[in-house]
Amino acid sequence: AYALFATTALAALPAAAETVGFAQIGSESGWRAAETTVTRQEAEKRGHDLKFADAQQKQENQIKAVKTFIAQGVDAILLAPVVATGWDQVLQEAKEAEIPVVLLDRQVDSSEDLYLTAVGSDLEHEGRVAGEWLVQQVGDKTCNVVELQGTTGSSPAIKRKAGFEAGIAGHDNIKITRSQTGDFTRTKGKEVMESFLKAEGGTEICALYAHNDDMAVGAIQAIKEAGKKPGTDILVVSIDAVPDIFQAMAAGEANATVELTPNMAGPAFDALEAYWKNGTVPPKFIQTESKLYTQADDPQAIYESKKNLGY
Ligand code: AHR
Repeated sequence: AYALFATTALAALPAAAETVGFAQIGSESGWRAAETTVTRQEAEKRGHDLKFADAQQKQENQIKAVKTFIAQGVDAILLAPVVATGWDQVLQEAKEAEIPVVLLDRQVDSSEDLYLTAVGSDLEHEGRVAGEWLVQQVGDKTCNVVELQGTTGSSPAIKRKAGFEAGIAGHDNIKITRSQTGDFTRTKGKEVMESFLKAEGGTEICALYAHNDDMAVGAIQAIKEAGKKPGTDILVVSIDAVPDIFQAMAAGEANATVELTPNMAGPAFDALEAYWKNGTVPPKFIQTESKLYTQADDPQAIYESKKNLGY
């Protein structure tokens, strides 16, 4: 046995065709679908056998999947944790079985020595970028913002909220008047936006901040059905940069998005391959880029370039 995730070189593990379990959250958003597609493609390209488990948005299913992968003796586990808490025990089991775990796109509250590395964006920064963009747009004007949060207890919901609040801090003319979860889905984004519009009488809302594009796309529909112009009467800023939001931006119905790459698997496999080969221990956090796109960035061309990428 060897000390998992030690800083010194470890015994070499299988050189090729490793078996990797992927405990995915579900398919709640276009971004999630793209992450699944890219992960399958990366595994295939590199000759690894990927065992895929869809948890249907339930942590208990993800824990079961991780336990199954451990029992099967996989060479590594990719875990996109639906919520941030409640992972200590199963991560400890993986560690005791000497199976490295790589977290994808979301983070956990567990101790860092329970996983090999985490690949993801700076989630708080994404929210801050969205908030700062809104500050630029509204200037001194009074602006009531409604917020569609992601899945309750998930790291992107917690951090994107905190980041946006930091981005608008000190600008007392901008206030979040309503904030509720839309669970990262288009359907719930629409439903919750309908309730926001009813509650506000449809007149007071100046901007929508959605923690992902899918909820924004659902909300855009609700805004149109309420007889308002999304992108003009109500500014729309969200996160992910999926093709559909670029289509909405091209139509003038959305204003800005912060990109989250769906390619978490590339850096994850790079780290795992170096670890398998010669025990190289990666940094605990491998950060992906977060770029702001607005209507000035030729959204139609971006839509065309992204539409066949598995979103
Ligand atoms: O964890 C990343 C988030 O999860 C994406 O922003 C969202 O679309 C997905 O469901």
